[in-house]
Amino acid sequence: MTRVRGRAAAVAALLAAGLLLAACGGGGGGGDDEKAYVEPKGPAQETISIEAKNFSFTPDDISSEPGIVELELVGKGGLHDLVFDDGAYPGFQLEVNGSATDAKKIDLKAGKYTFYCTFPGHRSAGMEGTLTVK
Ligand code: CU
Repeated sequence: MTRVRGRAAAVAALLAAGLLLAACGGGGGGGDDEKAYVEPKGPAQETISIEAKNFSFTPDDISSEPGIVELELVGKGGLHDLVFDDGAYPGFQLEVNGSATDAKKIDLKAGKYTFYCTFPGHRSAGMEGTLTVK
């Protein structure tokens, strides 16, 4: 019995997913619920490079003009990532391990944003910074 019910639930979930996909198919404006990273279309006006090590970002107080920039995380030891707090730029994440580098384009809007490393304990140890866009 539970088996059948489970399958029915799975089918319902698939149907719901299909409906969601169809609903999101329009593209363009609107998609406030989207969590996946979408690369901005157009060239980056500059590259902002941030070093990550145990346990700090350098620089940790950054200014930029609005528009598309390439945000680059340069590993200087350890396993780290960079995301924005307070739901800003959902889906945007850079991650480095050891001396690796990760980079993504981001379309910056005017505002003041906090970024941090999500690995347990890293933020409280100092892996937090501010990006001011104006
Ligand atoms: Cu970290």
